[in-house]
Amino acid sequence: MTTNRELGLITTGSLVEGLEMKLSPERSIEEVKAGKFVVVFGLLHKFFSLITDVRLDASSTNVLVNPPSKEDEVLRQVLSGTSTYATVELRPMLMLTQEEDEPKPVKTIPPHFALVSEATEEDVSLVFGREDSTRKFFNIGSPLDMDTPVCINLDRFVERSNGIFGKSGTGKTFLTRLMLAGIIKYDKAVNLIFDMHNEYGWGSRREETGGFVKGLKQLFPENVSIFSLDSESTRRRGAKPDVEVFISLDQIEIEDIALLQNEFRLHTTAIESAYAISRRYGDRWLSELLSWKQEDIPNIAKELGAHQESISALYRKLSRLKTLPFIVDDNRGEGTIKKIIEYLGRGINIVLEFGKRNNALAYLLVANIISRRIHDHYIEKTEEYFATQNSTDKPRQLMITIEEAHKFLNPQSARQTIFGTIARELRKYFVTIMIVDQRPSGIDDEVISQIGTRITALLNDEKDIQSVLTGVSNTSGLRAVLASLDTKQQALILGHAVPMPVVVKTREYDERFYKEISSLPESGKVLKYIDELYG
Ligand SMILES: Nc1ncnc2c1ncn2[C@@H]1O[C@H](COP(=O)(O)OP(=O)(O)OP(=O)(O)O)[C@@H](O)[C@H]1O
Ligand SMILES: [Mg+2]
Repeated sequence: MTTNRELGLITTGSLVEGLEMKLSPERSIEEVKAGKFVVVFGLLHKFFSLITDVRLDASSTNVLVNPPSKEDEVLRQVLSGTSTYATVELRPMLMLTQEEDEPKPVKTIPPHFALVSEATEEDVSLVFGREDSTRKFFNIGSPLDMDTPVCINLDRFVERSNGIFGKSGTGKTFLTRLMLAGIIKYDKAVNLIFDMHNEYGWGSRREETGGFVKGLKQLFPENVSIFSLDSESTRRRGAKPDVEVFISLDQIEIEDIALLQNEFRLHTTAIESAYAISRRYGDRWLSELLSWKQEDIPNIAKELGAHQESISALYRKLSRLKTLPFIVDDNRGEGTIKKIIEYLGRGINIVLEFGKRNNALAYLLVANIISRRIHDHYIEKTEEYFATQNSTDKPRQLMITIEEAHKFLNPQSARQTIFGTIARELRKYFVTIMIVDQRPSGIDDEVISQIGTRITALLNDEKDIQSVLTGVSNTSGLRAVLASLDTKQQALILGHAVPMPVVVKTREYDERFYKEISSLPESGKVLKYIDELYG
């Protein structure tokens, strides 16, 4: 039944090292790619496997020493498949007996000369599920050289923090937007997206075609709202910001400034003097500092018993905050937090756009301060829920998306930022993060090891590959697979939301996708809201 898909026969292998297959002489080695999804037929089990390496072999070295000449096509053909052949390495990931309907982890291997064949559409949907009325699975792409959907289990995806990795231009943002669309469509979690480069809310550029793709607000106008740090810019791009975002000086804690030590070029002594100020003025420390006059500083320093030089440096460097128009010295920052909590509570997803204010300083400051406050709120809500155990009090699962995650989660910052805390506490408080990053090696190992599902496009750097595979067993084959992905729109998916690692050609984010996603069964609760305009 599978003869036309036959690839070869198993020759050697072990449970630990994986299997080796001799490629059938009818098949060309160039058809066999790393990352391909194949099936091995044992006597009792079917083994779902991934091709991890391909190699040329010869039965005797003679033929290699005296290779056929360029013209001798006949001799080449005679040798091929007997004296010379291709060996393919596979790693079985799951196995299934005839009686079972769900594949299990691999505990044995198939016998000698077991048949290997390309996977069929049924195999793929048996392993990865099907996007159907169970509303569990979401099509994210197709296996290499196949035209059938590979699905991600969304229930499992939102259960843990996740990562989307790959070097620049490989399709991380497109993948993230796809995943978010699936989660919003099926109402699996409410999302707060810190959109540094204005790519998620409204039309974003598509490099190759130079055209535009739709943002989430365009796909789900009723369930997504745009908050903006730079409403001028949001308007210029044709979108209407729903809420303008402010940060108040008294929401900025010294820890936030410490996180930005590099951006501000601050010495630790300056941070220490910030503590001296806050001992005196509490929450108002920053507003107080920025209201001083340069010439008063020597006296103030004396009064505080702090070092004059470092107070001066702190004053000079933090004065930069005054030039950021979204930083205000009144209570509009609290207004922003309230709005965010209110929207999320109603199940409305928030894309927070940075407009032109997309520098690292603004991004780190805003994302950290807002997320910390939202997280505090979730802790309270969770405690209430545990007290009443009333299902209507159950907080709505929240996923926070951040780009350039290594800036928040490098080994120094991961202990200081709220995102390190969220990643480590798992989903105790119904909050998880989705981190998007091109340099996973810059992220703290402890955080990476908490990442449930990793979707990884091409990475070249050995350190990055290693860190994406942190905590994954049997990674030897996967390394080669990762390094051999296409430069665009291909990804290796592994972890909590897929039963086995799989390489996909990412689903095309285009007109057809918009159509498909809008024709899917509507989300259980369609959330309507009245546009509340600021001002
Ligand atoms: N699923 C997809 N559907 C359509 N086009 C895609 C898809 N994935 C990637 N592309 C193409 O690849 C380009 C780069 O993708 P994307 O912007 O997501 O890369 P990135 O990894 O986020 O890059 P950077 O690190 O620079 O932010 C897109 O502009 C688009 O042309
Ligand atoms: Mg991007």
